[in-house]
Amino acid sequence: MAHPAPVSDLPDPSVAELLAARPHLTMHAQDGLVLEGVPLKRIADVVGTPAWVYGAGTMRARLAQLQAALAGTNAHLHYAVKANDHIAVLNLMARGGAGADVTSEGELRRARAGGVAAQDIVFSGVGKTAREIRLAIGEAIGQINVESAAELEVISAIASSMGRTMKVALRINPDVDAGTHAKITTGKADNKFGIAYEDAQAVYARAAELPGVEPVGLALHIGSQILSIAPYRAAYARTADLVRSLRAAGHTVSRVDCGGGLGIGYRDDPGAPVEAFAGAVRATFNNLGVQVMVEPGRWLVGPAGVLLAEVAIAKGTAETRRFLVIDAAMNDLVRPAMYDAYHGIVPLSAADAAAPTELVDIVGPICESSDTFARDRTLPRLAQGARVAILDAGAYGAVMSSTYNTRPLLPIVMVDGDQWAVVRDRQLHEELWAGERIPGFFGT
Ligand code: LLP
Repeated sequence: MAHPAPVSDLPDPSVAELLAARPHLTMHAQDGLVLEGVPLKRIADVVGTPAWVYGAGTMRARLAQLQAALAGTNAHLHYAVKANDHIAVLNLMARGGAGADVTSEGELRRARAGGVAAQDIVFSGVGKTAREIRLAIGEAIGQINVESAAELEVISAIASSMGRTMKVALRINPDVDAGTHAKITTGKADNKFGIAYEDAQAVYARAAELPGVEPVGLALHIGSQILSIAPYRAAYARTADLVRSLRAAGHTVSRVDCGGGLGIGYRDDPGAPVEAFAGAVRATFNNLGVQVMVEPGRWLVGPAGVLLAEVAIAKGTAETRRFLVIDAAMNDLVRPAMYDAYHGIVPLSAADAAAPTELVDIVGPICESSDTFARDRTLPRLAQGARVAILDAGAYGAVMSSTYNTRPLLPIVMVDGDQWAVVRDRQLHEELWAGERIPGFFGT
């Protein structure tokens, strides 16, 4: 299936179009760009740039919207922690009634630190270590999604040695193309995820006879940033078929974990139709009598976050090529460099937003060409010192940051209506090498 059209083939939405598609962001004559009820320039003045800002009210509203769409199903949401793992975000999700989908020891510990109850945690992950499995069983989490026959044996052995029985679901690979970017598709037979569809029956039978594990159902996840419902329908139909044949063989199948992947609109498009998604869940699973789980990450938090940055240097002219070098870089937000991802960019000042437009490249200061946020982007003319918000950075933003070029991790601010608080400090340079040592044998 074709990948999305190259960025340059689509016209850039204007600032007004970007904002119209994002009701949590508004432009005010005096205050400039406002997230929920807080002017972003006020935050930039206090914490400096670059900085992440998340809207708690926006995340909460999106959670409620998805829960409402799924109301006619018996689906329960497990927020995919990998999208944004800040403990305040996890706490917000838990307060809103969502469990957590974790993929590592670190995420499991974070979910607990954020206030997620152990029984509301599902552990997915392609290469869980024995140590991670032991932790999950010790914490008595709700379910482990098993990725292979080999992993099933390991879980059984560890749980038995601990005198416990762990509920497991088998992650099957439905061999469906989600039509998304090649680096984030996961449901095709030729990628590394899950148990081959044809082998699932035999592995389920093995799980049923092994000590220490109780097979409760199936899990799947076909990819990320999925914008149409057709691949979900196809994958769910195959899953439902498998549930029926497992039951015909005498097995108990009481849960299906439908995975995540709901896409968002990075331009002025609406994103995945969640009502239609809920309709597919309802149509496939309601009459099957299974407890359904859904694991969205991006859809819940992506639009709620922005990355604030300042133009450090403006160089070149429209006739040659005009570059705006900003103080944020690919180490902070890697998605454009890694996936050619499109992120809208909006000035923080109303006057800047109203300036005549020009064609620019927005780049970071790191010495590689991939450190580019936007190429040939139509933007209001911005001078040195102008500040911007890079949109839809709430998912796979801060979590994917590195400290390349010895650039410290950025501060995080949480807005909630008209309140705001710094919820992570800017990392100090000294913290970056605090654990490093010059070996004694180098001499004095
Ligand atoms: N469940 C499982 C088993 C997953 O592997 C993932 C994401 C999710 C749920 C959540 O998917 P979401 O609803 O957020 O699409 N870094 C990439 C995205 C990688 C997604 C990996 N798996 C990006 O920036 O686009």
